[in-house]
Amino acid sequence: MKLKDIKALASVQGPAGSVPERLARTCFSVEDMRKLAAKRLPKSIFEYIEGGGEDEVSLRRNRSSFNDWSFLPKWGSVENFDLSSTLLGGPVSMPVTLSPTGGTRLFHPQGESAVARAALAEGIPYGLAHLSTTTMEDVSAAAPGLRRWFNLEPTSDKGLLQAVLDRVSNAGYEALLVNVDCRAIGHRERDYRNGFTAPPSIKPKTVVEGVLHPAWALRFLANDAIAFPNLDAEVPEGPLASSPDMWRTLLAGSYEPTDWDDIRDLRERWNGPIVLKGVVNPNDAALAAAIGIDAIQVSNHGGRQLDHMAAPMDVLTDIVERTAGRLEIIVDGGIRRGSDVVKALALGADACSIGRPYLYGLAAASEAGVAHVLKMFRAEMTRTMMLLGVSTIEELRTEGRDLIRHRNEAFTGTPPVIPEAPLGREEMRTP
Ligand SMILES: Cc1cc2nc3c(=O)[nH]c(=O)nc-3n(C[C@H](O)[C@H](O)[C@H](O)COP(=O)(O)O)c2cc1C
Repeated sequence: MKLKDIKALASVQGPAGSVPERLARTCFSVEDMRKLAAKRLPKSIFEYIEGGGEDEVSLRRNRSSFNDWSFLPKWGSVENFDLSSTLLGGPVSMPVTLSPTGGTRLFHPQGESAVARAALAEGIPYGLAHLSTTTMEDVSAAAPGLRRWFNLEPTSDKGLLQAVLDRVSNAGYEALLVNVDCRAIGHRERDYRNGFTAPPSIKPKTVVEGVLHPAWALRFLANDAIAFPNLDAEVPEGPLASSPDMWRTLLAGSYEPTDWDDIRDLRERWNGPIVLKGVVNPNDAALAAAIGIDAIQVSNHGGRQLDHMAAPMDVLTDIVERTAGRLEIIVDGGIRRGSDVVKALALGADACSIGRPYLYGLAAASEAGVAHVLKMFRAEMTRTMMLLGVSTIEELRTEGRDLIRHRNEAFTGTPPVIPEAPLGREEMRTP
C-alpha cells in the first residue's frame, strides 16, 4: 500500500464543524448527551434538571412505562416515507414539540434563544416557559418563523391575566400551554439537599462547584444574571428574581387558585389554540374537550410535581377512548427515544413533547447540542417506523393499535383479511 492510499484511509483532514458540533456528534443517544451534560454542569444544577418530587416514583415510572409496551411489526413494503404531520392546525416536520422549562439560561447562557433556533431549524414548535430566563419578545426575535407557544401560569386576577395575554399575543405566540398541575410546588428533595436556589446564590459549596466546572462558571459570570423577566411587568414591586423564594411568592402571591370557570373565561379571551398541560385524569380530558380546549398535554410535569401521579403511558389509552378525537393529545414525560414517540402515537397520541433531553443537549453543547438531540429523535423515529412497517404518521395513528401490545394484555389487533383462495405453492412459483 502506498502512502497516499494510507492517507486516504486515515482521514487526515481536520474534524468538520465547530467545537460544540463536534462534541454533540460524540453522542449516539439521549443517554450519551445526559452523561455529557452531567460532566459539564455543577452537580446542583444538573440535579435540578434531573430531580423529581418526593420519592421520584412518577419520575421512574415515566421511563419504565414505555418498556411495558412492545412492538409487533407487520410485513409489507414501506413507501413514500414521511414523518411530517399537523398539530393545532399547523404543520410540524415530525410530531415532537419542546416542552417549557423554567430557568433555562442556568444550563447555558444562550438559553431559550438557542432552543428556539434549534426548534425552528427542525420545523417543530417550542413552548416557552412563563418562568423563562429570556423575555418572550427576545425569543420571538431570535427565531421569528418559529411556531411559538406560551406556557401560561394561570391566574384568577383578570386584569393581570389580560395584560399577560396581550403581551403574549403581541409577541407573536400562537397558542397557550396552560399549567394545570402546579397548584403547589412539588417537593424536589435533591434541590434541598444540594442547597439549590434559582437564581443560584453564592455559598462556599457554589464556589467549589464553580472551580470544578470552570467553563460553566466563567460563562455564568460573564453573562447577564439569571432573572425571570416575563414576570417583571406583572409584579409591581420588581423582578421576582430578587425574591429568595421566588416559586412560593409566585404561587402564593400574585397567582390565586384557579378552576374550570377560569379556564372557560380564558377560552373566551384567547382566540388561538389552548392546550391544558398536566392532565392525566380521563374525566378532566373529557371536560377540557367539552369546553372547547384544543389539546391536552398528558403529563405529570416530568415527575416533578405530585409524586405517584400517573405516568402518561399508563393512562393514554383511557384518555384516547374518553375524548374520542374531540381534542388533540400530546404526551410528555420520560421520552428519550424515537421509539417512545412511536409507541405513544401508536396508542393514539397526536404528538410527544420532550423536556430534559433538549436541556441535556443545551448544557452539553449549546444550540448544536439541542439540534443534535432533535436529529437523533428524527433518525430513531424513522428507523423504528420502517422496521415496524409503517410509512406515515397517519398510518401509525390509525393502524398503530394492531402493532403494539401491553405485556399484561391479550393481543387486541384487528384480524387480517385473508384471501379466499390463497395461492398454492405451485401457483406462486408460476410467473
Ligand atoms: C428543569 C425543568 C424545568 C421545568 N419547568 C417547567 C415550567 O416552567 N413549566 C412547565 O409547565 N413545565 C416545566 N417543566 C416540565 C416540562 O415541561 C415537561 O413536562 C417535562 O420535562 C417532560 O418530561 P421529560 O423531562 O422527562 O421529557 C420543567 C422540566 C424541567 C426538567
